[in-house]
Amino acid sequence: MSAIPQLRNDGSLRHLLTLEGLPRALIERLLERAVHWSRPLGATAARGTALAGRTVAVMFAEPSTRTRVSFELAARRIGAEVAVIEVQLSSRLKGESVLDTVATLESMHVDAFVLRDADATVPDLVATHVAPHVSVLSGGAGSVTHPTQGLLDAFTVLQRKGRIEDLSIAIVGDVRHSRVARSSWQAFAALGAGDVRLVAPAGLMPDAGEFPGCSRHHALESGIADCDVVMMLRIQKERMVEAAIPGAEDYFAHWGLTRERLRKARPDALVMHPGPMNRGVEIASEVADGPQSVIRDQVRNGVAVRMAVLEAVLGS
Ligand code: CP
Repeated sequence: MSAIPQLRNDGSLRHLLTLEGLPRALIERLLERAVHWSRPLGATAARGTALAGRTVAVMFAEPSTRTRVSFELAARRIGAEVAVIEVQLSSRLKGESVLDTVATLESMHVDAFVLRDADATVPDLVATHVAPHVSVLSGGAGSVTHPTQGLLDAFTVLQRKGRIEDLSIAIVGDVRHSRVARSSWQAFAALGAGDVRLVAPAGLMPDAGEFPGCSRHHALESGIADCDVVMMLRIQKERMVEAAIPGAEDYFAHWGLTRERLRKARPDALVMHPGPMNRGVEIASEVADGPQSVIRDQVRNGVAVRMAVLEAVLGS
C-alpha cells in the first residue's frame, strides 16, 4: 500500500496513487459520477466547466495511448488547461531530476500531475514533495498500480452486468507483471467480488501472498469455466525470456483466447482487455472484435472515469 495519505482531512480525495485502502463508498461515488460523464454510444461527449482555471500536467515517461489521451481529453472536457510533457523531449534528458521538473511546473501554477513511470516509486515521491494544494494521480506505475484502469474496468462491468458481488471474474495471462491486474482486482475486491480467479502459466503467476482471496488456475479452459468476465492481459513480450515461457505462437496455442475456448465461460461472459492488445498472442481477433468484447467500451469509459477523478481531486 502507498504510505502517502490520499484523502484530505475532510475525507475528500486529494491524490490517486493506488486503489488499495480506498473506502468502498468513495470508489462508488467516483463510479456514480462517471455515469454522469458517460453518454450512450454515439452521443456527443459530455462536457462541463468544473475545472475552469485549473491546470493539469500530463507527464508520461512510458509509452501510452489510452491513458494519456483520455486524461488529456477528460481534463479539457471539464474546462481545465492541460500541459502535456513529453518526457523524452523534456529537460529530464539533460539530467534534470523528476522533482526539479515538477517544481518547475508548479511554478507555472500546475494544480495536478498525472504521472506514468516505469519506476513505481515516482508518483509517491512526487506526492510527498508537491505543495498542499497540488494533487498527484498515477497513470500507471511500474508493475504495481494503475488505479484509473481499475476504476474503468469496474465501471465497465457494472455498466454491462449491473453488479459485481456474485460474478466470477477471471484475470488471464501475465498477471505477474501487470499493474492492471493488481488495480482491477483491488477495484473488484473493494466492490465485493467473491470469485476472482488468476489464470496464468506458472512463470506469469504472482508470488504467493499477493492477491489474497483469489483462486489460482494453471490452465485456460478450466480457469475460465462458467465465468461472467474474462479479462485478458497483454503478454509482455519483453518479459518472455525472463519468465521462461514459450514464444508467441506457442503462447497462443496454449493460452490464446479463441472463440472455441471462450465457450467454456458463460454464454453472456464479457471479454475485456486493457490494451494494447497483441492479436494472435493472448487473444484472437475474432474474439477481440466479437459480440462479447467490451474492449472499446473500456476505452470509452476511461474518459468518463478520469473526468470523475479529476473533478473529485480538483473540483472543490
Ligand atoms: N490500458 C493502458 O494503460 O493503455 P495505454 O498503455 O495505451 O495507456
